[in-house]
Amino acid sequence: MYALIYSKHRKMAKWTVADIPSQQGKLAVVTGANSGIGWITALELARAGAEVILTARTKAKGQDAVDRIRRQLSQAKVRFELLDLASQRSVRTFAAKVNSNETRLDLLVNNAGVMRIPRRQVTEDGFEMQFGTNYFGPFALTVLLLPALQRAAYPRVTTVSSGAANMGLKRINFGDLQWEKSYGPWNAYCQSKLADLMLMLELARRSSADGIRLISNAAHPGFARTNLQTSGPGRPLNFLERSIMPLMSHDAANGALPTLRAATSPDASSGTYFAPERLFNHPGEASKACAR
Ligand SMILES: NC(=O)c1ccc[n+]([C@@H]2O[C@H](COP(=O)([O-])OP(=O)(O)OC[C@H]3O[C@@H](n4cnc5c(N)ncnc54)[C@H](OP(=O)(O)O)[C@@H]3O)[C@@H](O)[C@H]2O)c1
Repeated sequence: MYALIYSKHRKMAKWTVADIPSQQGKLAVVTGANSGIGWITALELARAGAEVILTARTKAKGQDAVDRIRRQLSQAKVRFELLDLASQRSVRTFAAKVNSNETRLDLLVNNAGVMRIPRRQVTEDGFEMQFGTNYFGPFALTVLLLPALQRAAYPRVTTVSSGAANMGLKRINFGDLQWEKSYGPWNAYCQSKLADLMLMLELARRSSADGIRLISNAAHPGFARTNLQTSGPGRPLNFLERSIMPLMSHDAANGALPTLRAATSPDASSGTYFAPERLFNHPGEASKACAR
């Protein structure tokens, strides 16, 4: 039985993008990199010298994301590829391309996600949309990319979860996994993010058991001002959300720090989980939290 909770956050020295070690010579894939936390993650990885494949759902969004990085970093080694995590066909096409075209993949950041889709929708393959996009897609992508990841000397998979993993039902709803009987937008999101933590932990456990030198860890951005509330169905924020958002959130750059730390820091070992020091502050630092 999994119970995933935050430990009391340990006070740690302030961690900033200046602490990102050189990523020269590394190849990274960042999913959902045209927006929010994913775009900042791709930008900072590129700034540290990594070659970054940004994934996006359309050519226009992918090209725009690459152009915005190049406007800041003219020499950035960035490009985009199409990837729709709500389509197993798209996931397979993308993974096959990386496995065959790249000598190795050093880092996969499972970042893309949707949140609180008001009415139940399904993916191309018939999975409930939040579970399909936030969990099944990244799960398939991670497994399918293992050949390229295993060709890297020190491969790493960082999965972006959420504090919501410990909210909602706080468990996997095995009786109605696809929310066919009782869809709730929030409960479905929370389950998908809990499943992300399970994916992270199980990948860490199996890699260690099989003697594979692969780091699997996770990050929680805190409450970051991004397109997340509207990336699914274009749901407008309600009055309460609009009122509290500026007071209780930080920007995407701060929201990306836990991901960047998990993805690059030498202290981000397998099974670790990075999050802002307090849920609703502007930390500029990420603290280690434990999942058990
Ligand atoms: N922001 C927060 O407060 C917060 C808190 C906890 C966890 N998170 C997590 O952080 C991650 C990044 O979210 P964000 O806040 O940066 O939101 P965002 O700005 O909305 O970015 C989400 C990204 O995911 C992409 N995406 C959505 N559905 C996809 C699909 N089917 N296939 C491929 N890509 C897809 C989006 O593409 P489009 O532009 O095409 O929609 C976008 O690039 C998510 O996993 C989210 O659950 C965020």
